[in-house]
Amino acid sequence: MSSSPSSPYSSGLDVQAEATRVVPDRAVLISYEGVCKSFNGKQVLGGIDLDVYEGETLAILGRSGSGKTVMTSMLVGLTYPDAGSIIMDGVDLSALKTDADWKKLRLKTGYLFQGSALYDSMSVGENVAFPMIQHTNWSMAEISRRVHEKLAQVGLADVENLEPSALSGGMQRRAALARTLALDPKIIIYDEPTAGLDPITGDEIGRLIRRLQRDLDVTSICVSHDLRLTQLIADRLTLMYQGRTVFLGTFAEFLKSDHPEVLRFLHRETEGEDKE
Ligand SMILES: Nc1ncnc2c1ncn2[C@@H]1O[C@H](COP(=O)(O)OP(=O)(O)OP(=O)(O)O)[C@@H](O)[C@H]1O
Ligand SMILES: [Mg+2]
Repeated sequence: MSSSPSSPYSSGLDVQAEATRVVPDRAVLISYEGVCKSFNGKQVLGGIDLDVYEGETLAILGRSGSGKTVMTSMLVGLTYPDAGSIIMDGVDLSALKTDADWKKLRLKTGYLFQGSALYDSMSVGENVAFPMIQHTNWSMAEISRRVHEKLAQVGLADVENLEPSALSGGMQRRAALARTLALDPKIIIYDEPTAGLDPITGDEIGRLIRRLQRDLDVTSICVSHDLRLTQLIADRLTLMYQGRTVFLGTFAEFLKSDHPEVLRFLHRETEGEDKE
């Protein structure tokens, strides 16, 4: 996507206009309807309506604490809505109560957790193997083959026997991504995949995610504050504010939006500053 000269996000990345592929003719794979969630009487989600199309990459933006992780963690049963419904791949998630109920959907869903959340006590290879050991009855030879394959897919070689602490932040994120891909998910959720990385390493991770989206033809949700990443990988983006989605559209539309929270987000202002 090429930004207008006045845009603060002329990122210099090799993002073509065609990168923003809106896919309205595809089926809806994930649908939030009126989803509400409060913690200790404080409302975090106040009625989220959102459709995610099969094959698209949707970015969820919003300030810290706006409920992005709460919203996505509902897709793997780590949090439940107080009201409303989520339908994912034809399954009403409110009907899933036990781990056994969740198993089938969790096999289809890769979740790259905020931070990398690698297990320090295991080697990188064991981390990538872990979901396969937990969820499949594949032979050790098959698991070992897949560990190599997944690490190669994220551009890591010769790190299998290292501990995660021996890797750089960018390599740890790649290793976590390899673990996310372990079971060939149909849906991938990335929670802040570039947080804590320098901009160049962040761009590398962004390009890797974009390549994976193309190669694997998955449906993805990416939670991020990172507008460069969003511009690079997202077909559409939504902005969370005060428990609701206040914008939904393409990156180009986001840059043109005159919604006050979009303007604050783009220009990094705090509420009130724009009134002075
Ligand atoms: N299990 C919980 N118990 C109580 N409060 C919670 C719980 N999980 C989330 N919250 C609260 O919900 C709000 C939204 O949290 P969430 O982690 O979704 O924010 P976020 O948008 O992901 O923020 P960040 O960008 O910092 O990761 C926060 O105020 C948080 O404290
Ligand atoms: Mg979060």
